[in-house]
Amino acid sequence: MKINKKKLVIGNWKMNIFSVKEAKKLMEGIKKGSLKVRNTDIVICPPFVYISDLMSLVSKKLFLGVQNIFEEMNGSYTGEVSVQYLAQFKVSCAIIGHSERRARGESDTSISKKVARALEAKITPVFCIGEASRDEHGEYLAFIKNQLSLGLSLVSKAQIGDVVIAYEPIWAIGGKEAMNSHQVHEMSLYIQKCVKEMCGTMVMMPRILYGGAVTADNAREIVDQGFVDGLLVGRESLKVENFLGIITNVDLIK
Ligand code: PGA
Repeated sequence: MKINKKKLVIGNWKMNIFSVKEAKKLMEGIKKGSLKVRNTDIVICPPFVYISDLMSLVSKKLFLGVQNIFEEMNGSYTGEVSVQYLAQFKVSCAIIGHSERRARGESDTSISKKVARALEAKITPVFCIGEASRDEHGEYLAFIKNQLSLGLSLVSKAQIGDVVIAYEPIWAIGGKEAMNSHQVHEMSLYIQKCVKEMCGTMVMMPRILYGGAVTADNAREIVDQGFVDGLLVGRESLKVENFLGIITNVDLIK
């Protein structure tokens, strides 16, 4: 299944939901609220163990994603999850290279393979990048460029439009304040420039999301004035009302 090119809001539940009942209640609430949504695709990324319980709630507006996949398709890899498993559970995308995984040792090489595996399996990779801090000399820009070129090194020009890039400054993730929309716009332009340098100007551009301390109050401005295609949301995706507030505000954008 492929998500079309509307605005995209992804909720990453991380490791915060602890019963099937709670997972279903949350997804059902979001599904109900999604009925009024017109221009926005919604993706929920629960922990793997809830995927099969939630697949019956997938709709034309509400999709399922996962928080990670393994970098090989099959073999003797105890405890890993192949991307091949996912289509049968109606999973349409996979977060790859989230900073919380990078912080625990996930390498750029492994991330690049995961992005390639996802594309092979027709699962949309949500490839995460972001700097830990900013410096006056703009070295963070070179850092972002490097993350892009390493993570996308196995993606062909024909495939690049199928990738979603989630830009998440690490200092904003889990923090109190999101990056301002002006800075989001700058980064979105910079990411597009890097992709064009890597793949040429004729390719389809990947969609670009912003993530880090997104709330219902800042969502609309970030997407509208930051010129991004959507949002990757952590904490605020864990409460139906808050997550729907974000989605509704993004959906209002013309
Ligand atoms: P946050 O997390 O929305 O809780 O800041 C964002 C993320 O980790 O993607």
